[in-house]
Parts: sequence; structure tokens; C-alpha cells
Amino acid sequence: MCGIVGYVGHRDAYPIIIKGLQRLEYRGYDSAGIVLFDGENTHLSKTKGKVEDLKKKAEATISTEGKLGLGHTRWATHGVPNDVNSHPHYSNSGDLVIIHNGIIENYDAIKKALITRGYTFESDTDTEVLVNLIEEVKKKEGVKLGKAVQIALNQVVGAYAIAVFDKNKPDEIVVAKLGSPLAIGIGENEYFIASDASPFIEFTNNAVYLEDEEMAVIRIGKEIKLRKIKDDAIAYPNILELQLNLEEIEKGGYDHFMLKEIYEQPRAILDTYRGRLLADQGIIRMAGIDQNLEKFLNANRIIIVACGTSWHAGLVAEYIFEDLARIPVEVEYASEFRYRNPVITENDVLIAISQSGETADTLAAIKLAKERGAFVFGVCNVVGSSIARETHAGAYTHAGPEIGVASTKAFTTQITVLTLIALKLANEKGVFSKSRFHEFLTELEAIPSKVEKALLSNEIVEQISEIYKDSTNCLYLGRGYNFPVALEGALKLKEISYIHAEGYPAAEMKHGPIALIDEQMPVIVIATKKGHYEKVVSNIQEIKSRSGRIIAIVTEGDKTVKELADHVIEVPETSESLTPLLTTIPLQLLSYHIAVMRGCNVDQPRNLAKSVTVE
Ligand code: F6R
Repeated sequence: MCGIVGYVGHRDAYPIIIKGLQRLEYRGYDSAGIVLFDGENTHLSKTKGKVEDLKKKAEATISTEGKLGLGHTRWATHGVPNDVNSHPHYSNSGDLVIIHNGIIENYDAIKKALITRGYTFESDTDTEVLVNLIEEVKKKEGVKLGKAVQIALNQVVGAYAIAVFDKNKPDEIVVAKLGSPLAIGIGENEYFIASDASPFIEFTNNAVYLEDEEMAVIRIGKEIKLRKIKDDAIAYPNILELQLNLEEIEKGGYDHFMLKEIYEQPRAILDTYRGRLLADQGIIRMAGIDQNLEKFLNANRIIIVACGTSWHAGLVAEYIFEDLARIPVEVEYASEFRYRNPVITENDVLIAISQSGETADTLAAIKLAKERGAFVFGVCNVVGSSIARETHAGAYTHAGPEIGVASTKAFTTQITVLTLIALKLANEKGVFSKSRFHEFLTELEAIPSKVEKALLSNEIVEQISEIYKDSTNCLYLGRGYNFPVALEGALKLKEISYIHAEGYPAAEMKHGPIALIDEQMPVIVIATKKGHYEKVVSNIQEIKSRSGRIIAIVTEGDKTVKELADHVIEVPETSESLTPLLTTIPLQLLSYHIAVMRGCNVDQPRNLAKSVTVE
């Protein structure tokens, strides 16, 4: 996700901003930019690539003087990563300069309206639209920058952390926040702005974190006052004294990126359906599906290709698509599909799922399907990635950068996107009554808060991890929607803790794996209420009769399994098709804690890469 850094004060802004951007690199980005204001002129430099590239370019091409400046690392959303789309962006007059982290969802309508009123745009970004909207408001209403920002923000829908200044006001930066983070560091006659405190921690420990829908006009020599964007109410800021060191801040206070990403899931799932799921209107809006609806509705079948965790998300999707939308689905490892001369027709739809959007096997499977005339749809996290470009259409997961090599939030957000698609198609096909569709939408909307609740299992999962951390083997069992979750749980454990683990459909246990069960063998069983509960309870009994140690993931309040299992971990109740979004949470935590206790490198497990670009 984008990183923001700003400075206004008595020091040279350039080194502070460059170093600050480097500190924010962990957030993930594809381009970077900086603007400096020397009191008379602005000096702008932007580039696709790393902060190091920006540094070289800026030092070779612009004056790096100035006591006011803004810097940005961009994680592309609207428009591919290139120099032009990088931030900062000027308004048409050249007076205003902005950096932005977030997405302005209604940017297209605003852009069209601005164009009819004579505005022009260089980039494809929503950010350039916002800065011109602010400029138009400022001119039309004859107001100061702060007021113009406030009026403009009341016209936009979406998420933002912004910093904007006016060339005619050399000592002032206006900031505002909704959704994306923004911290202000308070020094002696100087202010710092950043996505988190890491860029300014060596200058000051005093910081204010803006709340959603708050803004501030930061002016040298003036105290900060916060203003509500909606209603002008003034708030005096709560100035915090930061105790954190740099390392901690970069990981947001978490010990590892993986843990941070596990905890980000409520927000990530919300970001995935934000603007798409309109439960009160009974609508799912997804441009990539809306524009290709007939292809999906007339498809003979959907073929899903992916690797690793993304393949597991594909397996969950198979259950959802067939169960809800009644469309036949086949799920394939991309690496097998590409080499086995598959039968593909023009009436097939191929969905490729990939966090990185760069996985070589998945890319090759896409090319093959395209050559044979199938319609290819991508579900990716990384915007502008190769898979996003190679597919005919697609839907981003909007999980934000996933830095831990083991996929966590990518998995749950992929399932969220695929659920939205299945529900939309089911509705279009008339499979659902209006009220059932509405029930599903409402339940999906409740998932982020239920994931929060599932995360409360952390303490008990940690205690269980202590007991089983030295196991050499582990079995994961689930049925129906939770069979792929069992596979994913086993993959998580083996990749980061190096314990051998296998996932099976619970009923398959009798056909082989049951031979492994003895008092040394932890068996993790997903036994939530909906689905095949009674059958899973029978499987648990079979394990118990052979002295296996049972760790059961159950629905809140369950009594039956509690009596049989050695340990139970509760997750909230939800509809059967949504249970994977909850049952996967304790399994992620279990693998995380066991790996930490075994002294493994959780974020960068041996032999693994985040983006597998070779076959
Ligand atoms: C597991 C994991 C890998 C990836 C796989 C596919 O935690 O991260 O199994 O899921 O390499 O990667 P993407 O989704 O980037 O195509």
C-alpha cells in the first residue's frame, strides 16, 4: 500500500523524506515520488521503481532544496505503475500539490464532470482527480485550502490519507484521513507527516494519529487543531508519547509481518467487498463481472487454476460456485493444467487466482486457455501484475501488500471475491429468492466482525501450540467447505514450522491416514455446526478410539465435541459457505505460534519465495 511522508519546518526536507520513504518500503510499492518547495518554486521528481531509483533521479535532475516537501511510495490501484501515475500530482494551475493513499471510488464521475468544465488530466489516477476537485472548489467558493479540501472530501466516496499544499502558502500542509493511516509528528517549530511514525521517530516522540473523517491544517508556529470533515466540529488532538522503536513500528507493533497480516484480515475482507457489496440495495457490483455477465452465465463450466494457497481458495470456490450458483467447476493445479493437454472450449471460463499475479505456472495456464479460446478472468492482489494484465477481465482482492511469505490475508480475501462472484451469478440466474440473497449479503457483511471474534482465540491457540510444538507430524481434517481449509491449515504449518502435516477430507481418514494415528499424533478437526457436523463427530470418535490427540475447531457454544476433544477452539456461527473465512483463522495462528516457538523464521521460511516466477 502507498506510503506517505511530509515535512514542514526549519530543516532540509529532502533527506527526511527520502529516509522516511525508505522506512515505509515494507508496505510494498511499485513507484515513488517527491516534491520540494523552496518558498518560490516546486521541484518534482517521480519514477517507477524503488526509492533508491527516485533518489538517483531526483539528485540528478532537480534542486533538492526546500523546507517543505511531500514524498510518496505508490502501490498502484488506478493506472499502471509508471512515472506519470506516481505521486505527487499537481492541480491544473500548478498551485496545489497532493499525495494520496487510498481509493476514490467515484473518481470516474468526478473526472468526467471536471473534463466538461475544462480540466485536463495527465495520469490515470484517482488522485489527480481529487487535487483538481479541490482546486475547483477553492476557486469557485473563494475559500482557503483547508476549507476547499473539506468541501471536496464531502463529495468523494472511498478511502484516503492525503497531504496537500498550496504554493502560495509556503508554511502550511493540509492533511485528512478516512480509512488509510496518517500520523503527524510534532517537533519544535516543525511538523512531520507519515503513514506511520517510522519516518519521524528519530526527530520526535510526540505524535497525533488522525481518526477517520478528521483533517488538520498544519502550519508552522500554530498548534494543531483537528476538524471533522463532515461537520466542522473542532477537536484538540490527543498527543501521544511514542515508546516504540523503529523495528516495531514498521511491523505495526507486531513481532512478525505474518501476525500483522493475520490481524489485518477483518480490515482486508472489508476492503475487498467495499463498494462492491451493497447489502441495503440488494446489489453486488463488480465491473469485471458486470461487463462479462453473459460469458459467465452461458459458460459450460468454470475452470479454476492456481498454485498453493491460491489453489486452496479455488477449492473453496468450487464448493461455493456449485452449491450456490449451480455452475460446474473444475479446480486444477496450474502446473498440471498447462502440461496435460486439457480439453478447453470457447464456452469455458477460466478463473486464475494469484496473490502476486506473477506465478509462472498460473501465467502459462492462462496463455494456454487464451490460445484455445476460453474467456480468462483473474483474481489477483497485486495491481498491474502480469496476471492482471494477461487476463481478459478480473477482480482485485484489495488485501494490501502481503509481506510474510506464508499467505494469510490473501487467502481470505480471495475467498471473499469468489464468494461475491458466486452470489452475483446465483442471483442473476434466479437461483435465489430475493430474501435468501439478501440474507447472504447481510451475513457476508458481518464477516469482518466475526473474524475479529475468531482472532480472540489467539490466547488459547498459543497455549495449545506450547503443547504440540515438538510434534513431528500433524493431520488436518475437514469436510465439505472445510476440506480445503484443512489442506490450507496443513500447508501453513509445514511451510513455516517445517513439521510434516497432511490435510484430508475427514471421511478419507479411514482409507489410509488412520494408520498413522496414535497418542503422539495431533489431529486438527474442523467440526463446525453447519454442514456435515454429525459425520465429523463420528470421525472424531474414530480418532479418539485410537488415542489420537484432538484439537477441534467448533462453533461457539458447541457441547458435543467439547466432551470428545482434547482442546476446542471456538469460532462464531455463520452460514455454511462462509465458515472457511472463520475456521482458517485459528489454523493460521496455530502455525504461527508453533513456528515462533520452534525458532523458525516466520516471515521468510527457508526455500520459499513470495512470488514464484519460475516453473
Ligand atoms: C503459501 C503460499 C504459496 C502461494 C503460491 C501461489 O502460503 O504463499 O503456496 O500461495 O506460491 O502464489 P500466488 O498466489 O502469488 O500465485
